[in-house]
Amino acid sequence: MQNALTHIAIYGDAGRGNSEQFALGRIMARRHALNPFRFALSTGDNQYDPTTPELMQRIFEEPFAELIQAGVPFFQTPGNHDMDEDRISEQLQYSQRVNALARGQGGWVLPAANYVIRDRFVKIIVLNVTAAGSEFPQPAEALQFLEAELAEETSDWKVVCFHYHLWSTGLRGDHEEMKAVFLPLLERYPVDFIFAGHEHHAEIFAPWKGMQFAIVGHGSEIREHVMPSDQECLFRTNDIGFVELSLDASEAKLVFVDRHGQEIWKNKTSKAQAIPLASIAPAAPAARAAAAGTTTVARVS
Ligand SMILES: [Fe+2]
Repeated sequence: MQNALTHIAIYGDAGRGNSEQFALGRIMARRHALNPFRFALSTGDNQYDPTTPELMQRIFEEPFAELIQAGVPFFQTPGNHDMDEDRISEQLQYSQRVNALARGQGGWVLPAANYVIRDRFVKIIVLNVTAAGSEFPQPAEALQFLEAELAEETSDWKVVCFHYHLWSTGLRGDHEEMKAVFLPLLERYPVDFIFAGHEHHAEIFAPWKGMQFAIVGHGSEIREHVMPSDQECLFRTNDIGFVELSLDASEAKLVFVDRHGQEIWKNKTSKAQAIPLASIAPAAPAARAAAAGTTTVARVS
């Protein structure tokens, strides 16, 4: 893992601008100083309050100032609170104004509701599965986009990030609608990691058909509720923190970091354990064409 790798900070449900989010920003900055992140990735709910001229300063620019100044792009996943009052429209415009990737600077990156991040050995598919005022997933466009992207043959690590969880031992428990919608497609087109937020804790589950599902929603508020889940929980934390994912051509390392910057759980996955290319079906041209309208590929340079 010493050679060129993609080292990512994954965090979620952070957009409150409260003291806990500032604590998150500080530990992310401290870990970045030890091993720089290529970029950060939020699992959604990046904004909880109504849009105002000063809002992005309070919920993003100030808590993450050190990392933004260090040039870290922050890729955003839309969450249900980002869809309230059409807040996502302003977030998309803010991303255009910041234009972080083109300028080679740190800052907010939200190129589209559904988009792809490509970097070195990884393809990350970011999806919007949410809608304003609804706990029920609104996944039609996301599903079409995901199927088209997963049909592409690649030897890269494949990561999917969306806001609603599938399994959870937290407040809401397992999300049966998300499971019903996404598990059949993921079984057909397996990926390596699936990250979600929405629940306000963090946990990782025993692999399902070789895929690792994690909740990363402990960015600014903690909920300690415990519910049963159909899937075995390998590790859970009820404290503020984030997750680091490091990927090179052959190995992936996942680390849960606590509010003190300590590594509290980690595992490694070798590419040999990952899904062989032979299991990937050929691309469906019609599906690719239909989803092309929402395809945005963001490359990290
Ligand atoms: Fe949420």
